[in-house]
Amino acid sequence: MITKQIKSAIRDIPDFPKPGIIFKDITPILKYPVLCTNIIGAFVEQLKGTQIDIIAGIESRGFLFGLMLATKLGIPFVPIRKAGKLPFTIKQKAYKLEYGTAIIECHTDAFEPGQRVLIHDDLLATGGTVTAASELIAEMGGIIAGFSFVVELGFLKGRERIAPISDTLVILAQ
Ligand code: PRP
Ligand code: MG
Repeated sequence: MITKQIKSAIRDIPDFPKPGIIFKDITPILKYPVLCTNIIGAFVEQLKGTQIDIIAGIESRGFLFGLMLATKLGIPFVPIRKAGKLPFTIKQKAYKLEYGTAIIECHTDAFEPGQRVLIHDDLLATGGTVTAASELIAEMGGIIAGFSFVVELGFLKGRERIAPISDTLVILAQ
């Protein structure tokens, strides 16, 4: 049910940001508050039994539902951002994206050693971004409690790439 609603709200944009890429635009979901509430409810339900101390959301679209979910669970949220955006001392990691390369960063005091971190993003494509985030978090002493995504691009096989990092994976739509 929720899967169907998500899929009908997401719009496919051909040739964005580059020719040959079909961009999954999740912004229409945000116009439906009941759907947003149901998405958070589905995450909460499917993450029952997983111990999570903190959620790390990936800039920028990972902030949207990542913060909503953390607030719902009553736990902290930290942003993992693209290079040059965070004001305090930072730790960074370079990674390959579906289209191009990038650097992600977080504040050096973002995670406490031993904290169980749920990594959240809107979309799982190659898994390169969340793999880099996992490495960044692990280097800071965090434990990867699992991953959550609103949607995946299954043909890019991100699921297989991140499987060795954690058994906990919630994806609401394919
Ligand atoms: C997209 C998407 C994920 C990432 C997935 O973000 O929101 O964060 O790519 O790709 P991967 O699994 O191959 O690493 P994008 O970099 O386009 O930026 P945005 O979220 O700021 O729009
Ligand atoms: Mg993103």
